[in-house]
Amino acid sequence: MPTAYFTIITHAPGKIILLGEHAVVYGQPALAVPVSQLRATAMLVPAPQCIIDAPDLRRRYPLSAALPDDPIAAAIRLTWNRYAPAGKAPHFELTLTSTIPIASGLGSGAAMSAAVVRAVAGRLGHVLEPAEVSALVFETEKILHGTPSGIDNTVVAFEQPMWFISGQPPQPVTVSGAFHFLIGDTGQPSPTKITVGDVRRAWQANPARYETLFAEIGACVTQGRAALSIGDHYGLGMLMNLNHSLLQALDVSNNTLDTLTQVARDAGALGAKLSGGGRGGNLIALVEEAAAERVRAAWRAAGVRAIHATTLE
Ligand code: PMV
Repeated sequence: MPTAYFTIITHAPGKIILLGEHAVVYGQPALAVPVSQLRATAMLVPAPQCIIDAPDLRRRYPLSAALPDDPIAAAIRLTWNRYAPAGKAPHFELTLTSTIPIASGLGSGAAMSAAVVRAVAGRLGHVLEPAEVSALVFETEKILHGTPSGIDNTVVAFEQPMWFISGQPPQPVTVSGAFHFLIGDTGQPSPTKITVGDVRRAWQANPARYETLFAEIGACVTQGRAALSIGDHYGLGMLMNLNHSLLQALDVSNNTLDTLTQVARDAGALGAKLSGGGRGGNLIALVEEAAAERVRAAWRAAGVRAIHATTLE
C-alpha cells in the first residue's frame, strides 16, 4: 500500500540568557528570553526508512546509523517511543535546518531538538504542550551538555521570557515597556559542556568561594526580574554589567568578550554581558533605540561577526 503523503514543518526559537548562566546549574534562578528571529526548522516527508538530513551540519544518514551520542537521533527515538503504537517503526525523512549559530550560547542544540520533537509528535497526531516538549528536549540536552540546568529546553519550548530555577516549574516573566537587546557573535565557538565542566571542577576545589559567587549571581537575577517588571532600563543595564563581572570571576569570560562588552558600554549601551556558556559564543547589550546604531557600528569596527536584535516587551 502506498504511504499517505504528508509534510510536517515545525520550528523552535533560539534564546539568550539575560542573567544567571552557570549559577543556574547550582540551584540559583536565571532569566532567559526566546529569540524568534533565529530558529531551527524541522521538515518531515514520507520515506521508505528514517533518514536524517542536516545540511547545516553537512550530514545525511539513516537513523539506524546514528552514533549513540547523536542528540537529533535521540530526539526522534525518545518522541517516537513515547507516542508511537508498539512495534511501529518511523518511516520519514527529517530535514533539519537552523539559522542559530552552533555552539555559541544561543540554544541551537535545544532548538533543533525541540523542532524535531514537535515534528515527530506531529507525525503521530500529537500537538505537544510546551512542558512535554521541554521534558523530551531536556533528555537530549544531557547528551550535549552533560549536566544541563534545564533552562535552554524550557525557554525554547515555552517560547516566552522565563524565570527558571532547576527542579521547579518555570514562571513566565512580566515585562513593563520594551527592552531592546543587541546580540553580538564573537565567531568563537565554545561548547557549553567544557565551561560547565570547568566551573564544576573549580567549585569542587573551592566550594565556599564559588557558592558565594553563585549566590551573588542569583541576587542579580532576582533584582533583574524586578527591574523588568517596573521597566527600569538603567537598573537592568547595571545588573547585566555586574553579572558579567561575576562571570569573569567564575573564569568563563575571555579577552574578546571583556573587550566587546566594554566597547558596547562605551558606545552607549546601558549594560552588556556574555550570554550562555562563555569563553566565546555571544554577548548581549541592552540599548536604548537611539544608541543602537552606535553600538552596532562600534561592534562591527571591533570585529563582531554577526549582530542580531531582539526586543522584550
Ligand atoms: O547553552 P548555553 O551555552 O546557552 O548555556 C546554558 C547555560 C549554562 O548555565 C551555562 C548551562 C546550563 O545548563 O544552564
